[in-house]
Amino acid sequence: MTKDHISINRDVWQNDAENWVASGERLWASEPQWGIWGLPDVDLRLLPDDMTGLAAVELGCGTGYVSGWMARRGAEVTAIDVSAAQLATARRLATETGAEITFLEGNAEATGLPDAAFDFAISEYGAAIWCRPEIWLREAWRLLRPGGRLVFLGNHPLSIICTPLNGAPCEPVLHRRYRGLWGADWTEVEIDPSGVTFNLTMADWFALFQEIGFQVTGYQELYAPEDVDELRCWVPADWAKGYPNEQVWSLQKPD
Ligand SMILES: C[S@@+](CC[C@H](N)C(=O)[O-])C[C@H]1O[C@@H](n2cnc3c(N)ncnc32)[C@H](O)[C@@H]1O
Repeated sequence: MTKDHISINRDVWQNDAENWVASGERLWASEPQWGIWGLPDVDLRLLPDDMTGLAAVELGCGTGYVSGWMARRGAEVTAIDVSAAQLATARRLATETGAEITFLEGNAEATGLPDAAFDFAISEYGAAIWCRPEIWLREAWRLLRPGGRLVFLGNHPLSIICTPLNGAPCEPVLHRRYRGLWGADWTEVEIDPSGVTFNLTMADWFALFQEIGFQVTGYQELYAPEDVDELRCWVPADWAKGYPNEQVWSLQKPD
């Protein structure tokens, strides 16, 4: 039987978890910052400054630093991830820093958490890219109370279509069709194979949000800072100074 994207991606993260421990430790100790370039939250404003009394959920928490930042700002945080190995790091770092977070091992497309239990939901490169948008966004909708907010950060569609089919670093060349974009299967690529990630065209993102009922309250395209020169993940900074490699959607479930 062919494996589904959930188990493919879980295996990828189970095997790769040890390579994310050091960055997890660094980010738990830092001020909130986002994406592969570490852009400061004081500029992007993805998290409310004061989260006192808010019930927050992180969907695909990895090593858990975003949950740590939300707990530090006063939120009551639940964090879910499909990889037990990633969660082991997250739990250790929460204990070491004294953060009280409820960690759950599970699939962000079907969390099993109660309806309308959260004021704020977030994903940075978790469900945002590893889960099917039409499924996990409906799950996030279900989890949010009326008036609740969802923020998610992932790859910009341009970074997917400008990545060579063998998985080499992205370049200013179109390698895939934009029309009909659904994501990409990295399992069999020559360079740095991984799992299956999801993305949509802008029109399809908007159509999906509208179909579910989300209001779009913000959209940001993220570029590499001018003073960075290196390759991060598979994105050369020089490419990402001219083309956004990441996007952030801010959504609200209407009252
Ligand atoms: C890149 S990490 C995201 C966490 C962190 N913000 C980061 O950028 O390192 C991706 C995480 O998504 C998790 N993930 C992948 N598929 C998932 C799913 N279906 N449900 C929950 N978590 C999932 C992986 O286990 C991994 O820990």
